[in-house]
Formats: sequence, C-alpha cells, structure tokens
Amino acid sequence: MSYKNEITVPLLDLKAQYQTIREEIEPVVKEVIESQYFILGPKVKEFEENVANYCRVPYALGVSSGTDALLIALMALNIRPGDEVITTTYSFFATAGSIARLHAKPVFVDIDPETYNIDPAKIEEKITEKTKAIIAVHLYGQMADMDPIMKIAERHGLYVIEDAAQAIGSEYKDGRRAGSIGHIGCFSFFPSKNLGGFGDGGLVTTKDEELFTKLTYLRNHGAHPKYYHKMIGGNFRLDALQAAVLNVKLRHLDDWTAGRQSNADFYDHGIKERGLDKWITPPVRREGYRHIFNQYIIRAQNRDELLKYLKAHNVGCEIYYPVTFNNQECFRYLGYKKGDFPKAEKAAAETLAIPIYPELSYEQKNYVLDTILDFYQK
Ligand SMILES: Cc1ncc(COP(=O)(O)O)c(C=O)c1O
Repeated sequence: MSYKNEITVPLLDLKAQYQTIREEIEPVVKEVIESQYFILGPKVKEFEENVANYCRVPYALGVSSGTDALLIALMALNIRPGDEVITTTYSFFATAGSIARLHAKPVFVDIDPETYNIDPAKIEEKITEKTKAIIAVHLYGQMADMDPIMKIAERHGLYVIEDAAQAIGSEYKDGRRAGSIGHIGCFSFFPSKNLGGFGDGGLVTTKDEELFTKLTYLRNHGAHPKYYHKMIGGNFRLDALQAAVLNVKLRHLDDWTAGRQSNADFYDHGIKERGLDKWITPPVRREGYRHIFNQYIIRAQNRDELLKYLKAHNVGCEIYYPVTFNNQECFRYLGYKKGDFPKAEKAAAETLAIPIYPELSYEQKNYVLDTILDFYQK
C-alpha cells in the first residue's frame, strides 16, 4: 500500500494534553513541594470534595490506586475468605484479582455483547447462600445496566460495588453518575484514564456515612485514633501531589469528555461513510446514557491482522482484553472451562481499541479510518 501522508497516531498522547495545562499544573506542584506536605492533607481533602460533587455523591475518599479502591471497598463490606462475589468475566484484571486477594471466590458472569458490561439477566442464577456482593464494571466509559442489578441485590441482600475505574462522569438513566448508585464506587486515576494523575491514584465514593468512616480508617491501617486499631486496614493513602494535579485536571474533564464524544461521533460517521461497517462494528451507545469514551472499541473481522497492520502504519491500538477471567491461568482453580462465557470470549477475540483521546486532529482521525479501509481493501 502506498501512503501519501503517512503520519503517527498514538493510542494516547499525554504530552499533547500536558502542553495545554502546563501553566496551571506547575504552580500547584510547586506549592505542594514548598509545603512539604505529601500525604493526604488539604489538597487531598479539596480533591475529595470536588470529586464528590462531580460524581453527585455525598462522600469521596482518595486512595492509592483503582486496584486499592476495589480492595478497600471489599474490606469495608466485610468480604471474608469463602464469601462469593459475582462479577463480569471481562474486565481489567484488578476487578477479579481484588476479590481473590481477600480469599473470597470470584464468580463470573457473561456480558451483554453490545455494551461489553455484565449481563444482569445472568446474575441471579449465580447467587448462592455464600454470595455477599456484586461488582459491576462500567467498561470503556459506559455504565452497566444498574437498575436490574440493584433490584437483584436488594432481593438477595447483597452489596453492590461499582468498578468505575474507566467511567468518571459517565451517566446512567436520569443523570445518575458512575459511583453514585451502588454501595461503594471505585475510581482509578491511572494516567490513561479520562482523569489521569502523574502516577497511581484512586478514589472510593459512597452515600453511606458509616461506610465512609470505616473506609477512612481502613485507608490508614484501620487506625482510629492514631495507633489504636479496631480493624486491620492498609496503606491506601493518596499523595498530595496527585491530588494537586488531579484538582487542576478535574476542571478540564468535561471539555476533554466532550472532545472524546465528538471524536466518537466522527468515527461513527466516518465508518458508515467509508462503508467500513461491512467489516467493523462501532461501539453501541445506550439511549439516555452519558458514555465518556475512555476507550472507543470496534469489533473487527480479522482483528489480529488488522492490529498488526495498524501498528505497522503507526496507528496505536490495543486489545482490551485478550483473555477473559475464566480463561486466566491463575483462576484455573475456580473450575471454569473455555467456552463457558461465549459472548465475552467472542469479544476478547474480536475487539480493538483505536485512538480516541481529545487532542486527536482531524487529519489523525481520518488517517486512522483510512488505514483501516486500506487494510480491508488491500
Ligand atoms: C476496570 C478497571 N478496574 C480497575 C482498575 C485498576 O486501577 P489501577 O490501575 O488504578 O489500580 C482499572 C485500571 O487500570 C480498570 O480499568
């Protein structure tokens, strides 16, 4: 294939984002350095209040990562060895890993093949007398179907954790935001997230004051007051430097989200316009939801070859995720077989993330689509 204007489109370009906020970031970082107040403190508190408002939830608590957000949430809900926690088989590893780390049993459920989120219709058949909680993941930035999940949980007396690591600001019906529906919401500020720090960071949200207090203790080894431990927690604290950076970035989040959504519209339209929908399927957006497009996921014929071709032509792309939990070696002890979750396993074999970050230029977006077209027409 001949490329007249071969260009580079990374999957994510954090340097481009940084150029737009450098002048706001540098003074607040300097302020933290001058204060020498590095752990928790006023910057973290201010950030927690801002995120609570943003997520439309009364309480938010900054923690060390999205993984630790899940872990501390399960600890706060008293998940113990032998308890069962139901979740999707298709997510980032931390969703299932955090359950197993507490020696509880992850119990997997297949996905809705359109949204890639847990299929609520398949949850109830997995409930036993050992089931204590459900973790719903809002994958790629679109929320799981929370109303039926909450109804099932109420009927069986279960807790619901929202893994909103990829979904800050995404909305379900009636403007309910990720992290405001279940008992605890878990967020990640890993740099590739829509709201990404300068390192690891995370946060938990809750509507329940008692849970919030318990989470606060667990974040700091379960101490209350200092050096007196009624419970065993860990070091799950958020750094002041991260909070300072994230406070600045939060002010831009809605603009960035709008940029991602507009890029998604561009791709949706461009796929149809080029007749690419013969080979690839764009993401499905549920009516009335706010999809924040942490990832733009296509289903593609001959996916693995397409990935190679795109990379060879300098288009960043990635498979999220190539292996479902039931097929992970470390979960073999759970006794699942290949093929137990056909919809998720098909998604793992067919999907691909293409660049969607807000700073993408018109030329870059066209280049991505044209390169896909070249692949199928070659
Ligand atoms: C769905 C999901 N859950 C949990 C995590 C874990 O977050 P972190 O990388 O901040 O530990 C991530 C992000 O990587 C994620 O995408």
